[in-house]
Amino acid sequence: MPELKRTLSHLCLVSVLMLTACAGQTKPDETLYQRLGGLQGVTTIVDNLLYELGSNEKLIGFFAETDIDRFRSKLIEQLCQVSDGGCEYTGDSMAQAHSTMSLDQSHFDSLVNDLIAAMDAAGTPVTAQNDLLSRLVPMYDEVMHPQRYLETDSPS
Ligand code: HEM
Repeated sequence: MPELKRTLSHLCLVSVLMLTACAGQTKPDETLYQRLGGLQGVTTIVDNLLYELGSNEKLIGFFAETDIDRFRSKLIEQLCQVSDGGCEYTGDSMAQAHSTMSLDQSHFDSLVNDLIAAMDAAGTPVTAQNDLLSRLVPMYDEVMHPQRYLETDSPS
């Protein structure tokens, strides 16, 4: 009988250790969108980003003429789409949206820092933050070199 008790308590300890190890890990069938907190999580991230941009001296000038309501809703839509949330992004292409800005690396880095701060403030798990950032990487070239992606008027 004491033997059985010891085996049971051993099993319990193993289960507790396994649960602890599993806490914070992703469930295999969860989308990135779910790990970001769904619509509520993505909306909070975007609102936090707008807040960060509002006090970013380096970037705020770019948004002087921007319709912020539209920017907010298109960005929510885009983050939902890239994180497999089932949305369809209906905004401008990344080349069109950034075509007149002549952005350099320091602008890009500054926006990424603001996005990380926005995700930290939203309580987004670091693994989900990294996954979202890596899904935005393929857009880098289009944002930074829009002219490569836009139709040019070729002389006929
Ligand atoms: C991967 C990086 C980026 C992504 C995914 C992204 C995404 C977007 C999206 C979805 C829009 C809205 C497009 C629309 O209105 O249809 C937008 C617009 C805009 N983005 Fe970005 N962006 C990125 C990088 C940057 C950077 C580095 C800046 C630097 C300041 C920037 C500044 C702007 C501005 C000012 C607008 C508004 C343009 C306007 O007023 O029409 N973006 N961006």
